[in-house]
Amino acid sequence: MEIIEKVSQMQRTSEALRASGYLIAFVPTMGFLHEGHIELMRTGKKHADKLVVSIFVNPTQFGPNEDFNQYPRDTEGDLDKSLSAGADIVLFPPVEEMYPEGFQTEVLVKELPDHLCGLSRPGHFDGVTTVVAKLFNIVKPHIAVFGRKDYQQLAVIRRMVKDLNMDLEIIDVGTVREADGLAMSSRNKYLNSEERKSALCLKKSMEMAEKMFKQGQRDARIIKKEMESLIRSHPFTDIDYISLCDPETLEEIHTSGTEVLVALAVRVGKTRLIDNCTLGQHDNSD
Ligand code: PAJ
Repeated sequence: MEIIEKVSQMQRTSEALRASGYLIAFVPTMGFLHEGHIELMRTGKKHADKLVVSIFVNPTQFGPNEDFNQYPRDTEGDLDKSLSAGADIVLFPPVEEMYPEGFQTEVLVKELPDHLCGLSRPGHFDGVTTVVAKLFNIVKPHIAVFGRKDYQQLAVIRRMVKDLNMDLEIIDVGTVREADGLAMSSRNKYLNSEERKSALCLKKSMEMAEKMFKQGQRDARIIKKEMESLIRSHPFTDIDYISLCDPETLEEIHTSGTEVLVALAVRVGKTRLIDNCTLGQHDNSD
């Protein structure tokens, strides 16, 4: 496995791989890798000849009061895990390499960021689209793999790829969970043992929404109210949002139709957790 820090070296390497006829799959990450990231890598491997993983904690997607400096890092562990998952190249650029002096260009998706997480994290998705567009230009993948765990991020990236005619395919992977149902996240490390127990309320509230929906409940307000009281009954929780929305536009839905995205963000202690699931699908995997 090759470790590349320089943008120009990654571009030359990708160019050579493409010229030799290899299909390149790409998994962008911010490191502190867990089984969710590994599943993305396995999927990438299945669809291509060469797997590139990037590890870059992107400063431009963190707000001024967010956890950029505390974001967990474990370079050695990440390199080991990438190697075991079959990565051929790990791109591991320093911040100055991605944002050299004079940097002043952004890629912005106009409407999709104005919902869900975008409301409490202004500018977050602008940072995500800008860095992902840059990474695509650096890695030149045929395929890029993203998790449905970050549903809005996936939607925003798909929009960007379509709108800017980026010549690659986006593949998505369902949310990988701990045995008890908590969605895996690098930020789970922040939870103490009491908070970890409370964190299960996200999954439990979605299960309740699924049950209500199956029993015929279509009033989004009633479903949300029940989810809210279940979450509030867990200590250390503070709801950022609970949304029943259109899976395409992310617009809030009042009386739900055939397919509905349930998305929520809850602070547990100081840790902000997100999760989502889709109601009304035959295959109810999220
Ligand atoms: P990060 O949070 O490290 O996530 C990298 C990828 O792993 C994303 O596509 C995310 O959706 C996916 N992922 C995280 N947890 C998952 C889980 N439990 N199951 C399945 N997939 C999961 O998302 C980012 O980094 C950044 O915003 C990035 C796209 C790298 C841009 O900086």
